[in-house]
Amino acid sequence: MGDARMFGQRMFVVASLLVLLLRAEGINVGITYVTEAVAKGAVCLDGSPPAYHFSAGSGAGINNWLVHFEGGGWCNNVTTCLSRTDTRLGSSRKMLKVVAFSGILSNKQTLNPDFYKWNRIKVRYCDGASYTGDVEAVDPATNLHFRGARVFHAIIDNLLARGMKNAENAIISGCSAGGLTSILHCDRFRALLPPSTKVKCLADAGYFINAKDVSGASHIEEFYSQVVATHGSAKNLPTSCTSRLNPGLCFFPQNVVTQIQTPIFLLNAAYDSWQIKNILAPGVADPHGTWHSCKLDIEKCSPDQLKIMQAFRMEFLNALSGVGSSPSTGMFIDACYAHCQSETQETWLRDDSPELAKTTIAKAVGDWYYDMNPFQKIDCPYPCNPTCHNHILNPSEHPDV
Ligand SMILES: *[C@@H]1O[C@H](CO)[C@@H](O)[C@H](O)[C@H]1NC(C)=O
Repeated sequence: MGDARMFGQRMFVVASLLVLLLRAEGINVGITYVTEAVAKGAVCLDGSPPAYHFSAGSGAGINNWLVHFEGGGWCNNVTTCLSRTDTRLGSSRKMLKVVAFSGILSNKQTLNPDFYKWNRIKVRYCDGASYTGDVEAVDPATNLHFRGARVFHAIIDNLLARGMKNAENAIISGCSAGGLTSILHCDRFRALLPPSTKVKCLADAGYFINAKDVSGASHIEEFYSQVVATHGSAKNLPTSCTSRLNPGLCFFPQNVVTQIQTPIFLLNAAYDSWQIKNILAPGVADPHGTWHSCKLDIEKCSPDQLKIMQAFRMEFLNALSGVGSSPSTGMFIDACYAHCQSETQETWLRDDSPELAKTTIAKAVGDWYYDMNPFQKIDCPYPCNPTCHNHILNPSEHPDV
């Protein structure tokens, strides 16, 4: 009895501390299911309704909308898509009902000075193809739905009806596969909003490059081709690209970004940890696991591996070269080993968050959006930037693609 009570009291203290911590860094925001989407066939892989988390704007931000797309890789065939249906990445039945908003999604002035009063939406990712898929047929044997493009439209329609039709300012953003979403759908998002709305796009860790892996194979190119084929994505990729290249290649930002009309900001680490792990040194290209510890922690890389990573950075910068130097284009390419830097407070804005040209990510993005300052900066090579928060990955959290 006494022990149980003591245990209960301890748990209460632990729970209270957790609540305090969450309060300090983020707010908890409940889920909204877009149930009307189901009738349009705009559903997650398992047929469940899509969903988002919504934190309402206030005061001067009441007509400003930040629509941020969650990431989570892609599924490239029936097997891998089917395995997603048991997870939050394939079914809204498996999503947490409450998530914490921090970084660009924070509602606190000190943590997010330019967007804290905006309507802030985190769209949950459950289609597996960065919202590009649209296959009418559903195989009764698997009940898999490849409908990401419909989900995108259904979510935007729902938000327009919820007040976004009166938006003065709007941003489509996202991290990882969600960052790719904000690139591939940038002009589409612009077109769905009123002409009077000031619309810009922000891609965080969404600039996946078409590079060969360490064995010399085109692993990511093949993988993206399979994603596009499985999800019937070709018709929803920019025709300016699909008219001249294989549709799988039009999943790569480098082949579509020059055609984007809407102002876009590319936030990316030159040594993006997901790309190093899954594009440069995926498991299949490294059968003896010589890259294993290096991929988890850049400080464990050998001099030879670092040389290969420096070459990867050069390829990354090369893939960016077509982006151009229009002041409407923003660029924050740091020398960090990181992946997604806008949603976490420690990288978005804190006293020790990463800086490039003495500027934090929050300041660079905010000033770019409000046309105060164009920002196009590329960091010196690793390990030159002492402000980086280099990722140390947990192997179980980051399975191979
Ligand atoms: C599906 O894709 C995964 C990951 O690339 C691969 O390992 C697997 O062999 C593929 N399965 C089929 C049936 O093609």
